[in-house]
Amino acid sequence: MSTTMASSSSVTYYPPSKEIPLFHPSLIPRSVTRELPAGYTMRPIRAADYDRGVLDVLRVLTTVGDIQREEFEAQFNYWFKHNDTYFTLVIVNEFDRVVGVGSAVVERKLIHKCGNVTHIEDIAVARSEQGKKLGLHIIHALTDIGKSQGAYKVILDCSEDNVRFYEKCGFVRVGVEMSLKFGEIPKPSL
Ligand SMILES: CC(C)(COP(=O)(O)OP(=O)(O)OC[C@H]1O[C@@H](n2cnc3c(N)ncnc32)[C@H](O)[C@@H]1OP(=O)(O)O)[C@@H](O)C(=O)NCCC(=O)NCCS
Repeated sequence: MSTTMASSSSVTYYPPSKEIPLFHPSLIPRSVTRELPAGYTMRPIRAADYDRGVLDVLRVLTTVGDIQREEFEAQFNYWFKHNDTYFTLVIVNEFDRVVGVGSAVVERKLIHKCGNVTHIEDIAVARSEQGKKLGLHIIHALTDIGKSQGAYKVILDCSEDNVRFYEKCGFVRVGVEMSLKFGEIPKPSL
């Protein structure tokens, strides 16, 4: 669904409006959307969600930093260009504010006959909205999207505090997460 604009030296992909969804909304299963509480809507993220508070919701999860509109839109445009890989969705409330967010990233592997694995990342529900099953619905939708992209499994990392939540979403504890952190590293331009 990407729109293409050609220039002499490179090809830039961008959505023609900031209200264009990142991916096709039909990928979000009806079995999930019909279970949302009244007044809440689940849909693919849009560039315009910068103004609907999506970054504030992510701040309940971790450090987000001071992201300028242009940086947000550049990241969105990168996802849009690769929208068979990046699937970020949001839940908005009746006041059109983002109250929940989560991402699925599809990794295309060689093992398992060039199989796909979906990684669930960056799940957050606004503090005042927690406990309404919004997190559960986000996970169910992302899992379904992952499956629809041919993944043979869905995996995620979480803190010990959230193990019970993910178990309630149907996940089981497997293996050990390891990490090697780097300091400030300049980011390649998108
Ligand atoms: C974790 C988080 C996404 C859960 O979202 P939520 O909308 O509040 O959770 P839900 O209402 O969908 O919870 C579903 C079930 O899991 C339970 N649950 C939720 N969080 C839990 C936790 N941390 N520990 C144990 N159980 C938990 C709920 O009680 C509910 O159980 P029930 O079905 O028996 O009633 C949300 O609390 C959050 O954003 N936390 C801060 C950011 C974060 O830690 N994100 C996860 C990163 S790995």
